[in-house]
Amino acid sequence: MSLGLRARASRVLLDNWHGQSTVPSGGLYPHQWSWDSAFIALGLRHLSPRRAQRELESLFGAQWPDGRVPHIVFDAATPAEAYFPGPGFWCSAAVTGPGFPATSGLVQPPVHALAAWETFRAARDSARERGFLPRLYPKLVAWHRYLTGRRDFGGHGLVSVVHPWESGMDNSPAWDEPLARVAPAGGFRRRDLDHAAPGERPTELDYGRYVRLARTYREHGYSDDPAGHAFAVEDPLTNALLAASEHALAEIAVELGRDPAPHLAELTRLTDALVDVLFDEGDGCFHARDVHSGRLLRTGSVAGLVPLVVPGLPVADALVKTTLGPRFRLGELGLPASFDLTDALFEAGRYWRGPAWFNIGWLLWRGLRLHGARELAGTVRAALLAAADDVGFREYVDPLTRTGHGAHDFSWTAAVILDLLEWEP
Ligand code: SER
Repeated sequence: MSLGLRARASRVLLDNWHGQSTVPSGGLYPHQWSWDSAFIALGLRHLSPRRAQRELESLFGAQWPDGRVPHIVFDAATPAEAYFPGPGFWCSAAVTGPGFPATSGLVQPPVHALAAWETFRAARDSARERGFLPRLYPKLVAWHRYLTGRRDFGGHGLVSVVHPWESGMDNSPAWDEPLARVAPAGGFRRRDLDHAAPGERPTELDYGRYVRLARTYREHGYSDDPAGHAFAVEDPLTNALLAASEHALAEIAVELGRDPAPHLAELTRLTDALVDVLFDEGDGCFHARDVHSGRLLRTGSVAGLVPLVVPGLPVADALVKTTLGPRFRLGELGLPASFDLTDALFEAGRYWRGPAWFNIGWLLWRGLRLHGARELAGTVRAALLAAADDVGFREYVDPLTRTGHGAHDFSWTAAVILDLLEWEP
């Protein structure tokens, strides 16, 4: 390990800080993103606990009256044409009314309560002085209530995502089947290709479908009527992070002198639903379920391994076994491919169709430790650190060759590296 990985990671987070929050990357993503901010706080807490708290507070400052936490909070000082779809596309003020920052109308995976709890733990005294958790807790509760109350389209007690962008894994092959029924839109100009090679990004057809789904949601006033959504899936990553975050809410409740029992009951309920509805004993993996067809989308997305982060998950041993098998080869590679290495759809450098992402590596590392697979967790940690040391803080890397892809100086990459450096191998 070269000297200075910590200093270089810190530099990325300092450079990407915009006064109240951190941009994921200056060129490709020049605003605040929801789940990025949660991962960023996990690293920033070691550098500046106060900034880490601000990161989450500024995101929740944009929370909608219905409790949803928007996936993008637009920076008013950044030119509208810097990102597509920008504030003029989403028209969030038509729903939130005045006094709210311009945002998107979609959500992203709910890892925030977990990040808030870890951020608190990094500097308990100053967080208590600032009233960090007392202010954030009701907002986190409202956020979870939005998801479980408004997004249970399947009636299984699981949250549905209504857009691939909500899953965080935009162009995962897991979405190919449900997306195929969406007619692509035209009449827009992508900005992502100003910053990244087309072979590393979603295709034109994918983008046309993303825009169609987002426009339709906007035209329906961001209503969560299941009939208005051509795309609706119960995603294991989203629901697993919600369960892990309920566990964190229980910890937060104890700190605040409140009753943790409702959060622990919710954790149990979500865990049972995840295992009953989305776990496939046959291949030892979780799969998303298409709400419209009622079928499991049996693909090899790494999202199916993320339930390892759920405390008390009864099928953790089976998941660990799956990580070690030919589809992910985690013991050998250490880096988590985002898609089944043996599948013809695997593409080593294209966004969520194969490359390894550092935040997913962090989640698996945490989940493996949680379930006693410490040696494998150590292998993942070492591989993530070595990859960042080799190629810098890239958005994603080829899990086989460690070639870097996507954005440079990517904030959550730097953040999870800073966190991993705090831990013993
Ligand atoms: N991930 C999407 C993008 O690439 C939006 O959140 O812009």
